[in-house]
Order: sequence, then C-alpha cells, then structure tokens
Amino acid sequence: MFLRDIWYFAVPGESLVPGAMVHKVLLGDPIVIGREADGTPFALRDICPHRGVPLSSGALFSPQTSGCGTSAIECPYHGWKFRPDGHCAEIPSLVPDQEMDIERIKVRSYPVREVQGNIWIYIADDAHPDAAPTIDPPEVPDFGNKVPNIREAMVFDCHIDHAVIGLMDPAHGPFVHQAWWWRSSKSIHEKAKDFAPNPRGFTMVAHTPSSNSAGYKVLGGKPVTEISFQLPGIRIEHIKIGKHTVCGLTTVTPLDEKRTEITQTFYWTMPFLSFAKPIARQFMRAFLGQDRDMVNLQQKGLKFEPRLMLINDSDIQAKWYHRLKTEWAKSVEDGSDFVNPIEPITLRWRS
Ligand code: FES
Ligand SMILES: [Fe+2]
Repeated sequence: MFLRDIWYFAVPGESLVPGAMVHKVLLGDPIVIGREADGTPFALRDICPHRGVPLSSGALFSPQTSGCGTSAIECPYHGWKFRPDGHCAEIPSLVPDQEMDIERIKVRSYPVREVQGNIWIYIADDAHPDAAPTIDPPEVPDFGNKVPNIREAMVFDCHIDHAVIGLMDPAHGPFVHQAWWWRSSKSIHEKAKDFAPNPRGFTMVAHTPSSNSAGYKVLGGKPVTEISFQLPGIRIEHIKIGKHTVCGLTTVTPLDEKRTEITQTFYWTMPFLSFAKPIARQFMRAFLGQDRDMVNLQQKGLKFEPRLMLINDSDIQAKWYHRLKTEWAKSVEDGSDFVNPIEPITLRWRS
C-alpha cells in the first residue's frame, strides 16, 4: 500500500536542466519529469495515450519551436504533441477537414513543486487523479529557498515500509553503523528522548545529541538537534551549533513494491564545510550503504513471510509509522481530515 494525496520527492532540481526530461517509475507508475525552457518543471504519465510509447523518449520543444504556442512534448512514434498540462496539442496525421477535439485527449499530469532545490510530485489518489494538493511539500527550516550543499542517493531493494522503519530505528546504530568515527556496540547506553506530534508525523524535540555520536564533534561547539519524521517517509534533522545551522533532509520514495530510493540531502551555513565535501560524500555513501546492505540482507528472511515483532520502546516509532499510515489512508478514502494519533511521550531505549 502506497499513500496517496501526498508529496513525494522525485528528483534533485539540479539534475534537470531547462529543456530536459527524465523517466522515472514512482509508486509503480511511469512518469516523465521535464523542465520547460523558462525553468518550470512538470510531470506527466510517461505513456503516450495513442499507442503507449514513453513520451520521455520524444522531444521537448519550447513555445518558440513547438508550433503550438506553449512548450510541448512530441511523441516519437506518430508525432502527437502534448502540453505540460497533459492536453494534446497536435496530431500531425489529421487532414484539415477531419474534425477531432484533440484537447480532450489528455495524459495524466501531476502537480510539481520545486522547493529548496528539490522537485516534489503530488500523487493524488486514483479516485480523484486531478485533485489539487491541499498540503505543501516539506521544507527544511532556516534555509529560505537555498539549494542543497550536498546530496547522495541510493536504491534499496525493499518496500518503502522497511526503508522507513530502518531509517527511524534507534537500536540498529551501534550494530549497523559501527565505525571508528561514529560509534561501536561497546558505547551503548540508556537514552530518554521526548517526542511530540507534528502535522503529519512526530518530532524528537530539541536535545543535545548523545556523547557517543563522535560525528557531531567535528562540527565544533555544543550542538542542539531536533529530528522530525513526517509521512510518507521524510526525516528532517535540524542541528544548531552556535550561530551555525545544518539541516539534513532524508527522503524515502517508493519506485515500486520492491525498490525504494533514499536521498540524503544536506544544507549548511558554514562556508568552510565546502572543503570537506569529498570526505562528507564518502561518509554519506558509507552510511547509506550500511543501511542498504542490512535491508537487502533482511529480504532474505522476509521472502518467507515471517511474523515480525515491534517491541517497546525502541520500535515505538515504527508502530507510530504504521498508525500514521493507516490514519492517512483512511482520511484519503473518506475525504475526512487527517487526525494524528500520536500523543507526547518520553521514549527510553539503549543504543
Ligand atoms: S504512440 Fe505516441 S503518437 Fe502514436
Ligand atoms: Fe541506519
């Protein structure tokens, strides 16, 4: 089950130059994501309604060259043209007296927003595919419309639920992310963290990270961190260190039932960190790779459809994720307001 009526991170803004198109499967559906000559991004179902050829394999014309006054994609098979809103603008095989209301031919279009260098796509429920978004895509605090300083993406061979649960799991760190620069299983100690609901998820309220997180020492000063999670699989870590801020945005996007893309994006205010980018990239790759290797290993067991366990308190965030999903799906189905089922609480675990 994938959640609908919600924004999914689709592609990094910097990966899409004006006039470009990319094909991507999101939630099992083929989508062409393009950028018009003036910079406006758009997204359409990547299937020509005539005979099914992917539109992304055609050409994207500017309003000056398309011959129809707007930007248009030309399908490579019979040259039908489609505007960025999905409406058909031209069928070259028609002779002048063959009357056909071509505007009525339409490819599904998806609302797209580019925020802070991230391109988000709103995937409405199939019951109302043209419904306009009622919510805004996620944003990291304190960075206005700045673009990211660094990002790294990886595909995990698992369903989105296992990727999200792996991401919010506080107990795997000392085992999966063992490294001299991070932590080891010997550094495990008891923790207590306060949680509160947010509009579409929950927040681990501002705290000073545990002393065994050596990674924070590199940043200097005493950091204060707030970590929020929101549906469908967005984690925002906001770190304040003196006058500086670092924000990590982790997005979990289902490509299909068995493949999920994790994109880790960072924003920071420290100019000196730019010099550390190559090394930061290595760390990000190593870190994401450790999570990917573990969820991929997990698939070997999941293939046999075992019953799984969620224990208190270390798996309570995973339980919340399931409850949030259920509530969201219910609100989409009945058209009712989403009610967040989470109450403020302190969770305790050892990690
Ligand atoms: S298949 Fe696209 S125009 Fe015919
Ligand atoms: Fe992890």
